[in-house]
Amino acid sequence: PMKRLTVPAIRAAKGKTPVVVLTAYTIRMAQILDPHCDMLLVGDSLGQVLYGLPSSVPVSLDMMIAHGAAVVRGSYHSLVVVDMPFGSYEESPEQAFRSAARVLKETGAAAVKLEGGAAMAETIAFLTARGIPVVGHVGLTPQAVNVLGGYGARGRGQEEYARLIDDAKAVAQAGAFSLVVEGVVEPLAIEMTRAIDVPTIGIGGSVECDGQVLVIDDMLGMFDRVPRFVKKYEQLSEKIDAAVATYAADVRERRFPTVDQTYQPRK
Ligand code: KIV
Ligand code: NA
Repeated sequence: PMKRLTVPAIRAAKGKTPVVVLTAYTIRMAQILDPHCDMLLVGDSLGQVLYGLPSSVPVSLDMMIAHGAAVVRGSYHSLVVVDMPFGSYEESPEQAFRSAARVLKETGAAAVKLEGGAAMAETIAFLTARGIPVVGHVGLTPQAVNVLGGYGARGRGQEEYARLIDDAKAVAQAGAFSLVVEGVVEPLAIEMTRAIDVPTIGIGGSVECDGQVLVIDDMLGMFDRVPRFVKKYEQLSEKIDAAVATYAADVRERRFPTVDQTYQPRK
């Protein structure tokens, strides 16, 4: 059996081998993705993807812990990273530690991810010094949708571009072992990747990032509309639609169940 990848192993991938990451929220999906991935991210995107919430803002720590535990149970190779949800870490390093310690203790995951740049540097250093590895997340940070005003690409203006470079450096300097770079103009993703010594994981970033991540339901084609940065590797919603249409017709035409799916008295 494969040994679970460690935080130092992910960090050491920088400049050597691309880091493969997908989101996972449930045990069966974790089992299927695990052998192919280096990290499984239990993203707070589960708010929209699984629960139909309008953004990730309403997601709770209890929701992240429930799904984090399921993904850990469904994997033994990939490093499992759980998103810290909005409101569980921003107040202080102490609040962040309290929340993140619950995540590690109650899920078995090895690391957490939190959104934000220079403003989160002190918190990232505080967690890392106390045994909690942190993945950073800069650029388009969906928990800040109410400040940003939407999900458009970041770093188009000179001032914002420069500030985001500083954010990436601050997060890496604080001790994050990896950095998700989401929804930024490509030159910015490339410059961030060159500027820091831990792997950048792009999503709407650049092929030059040190790794890539996608939301699993997006890449499998579960949704009609997806952001520009998604490549649909499958059209699962169409396949499910066809399968369910066949089932519905079978029920209505009394073609299901057959003798194969029913219990007969023993002779
Ligand atoms: O919540 C999420 O799925 C994420 C990834 C897309 C990076 O944060
Ligand atoms: Na997230």
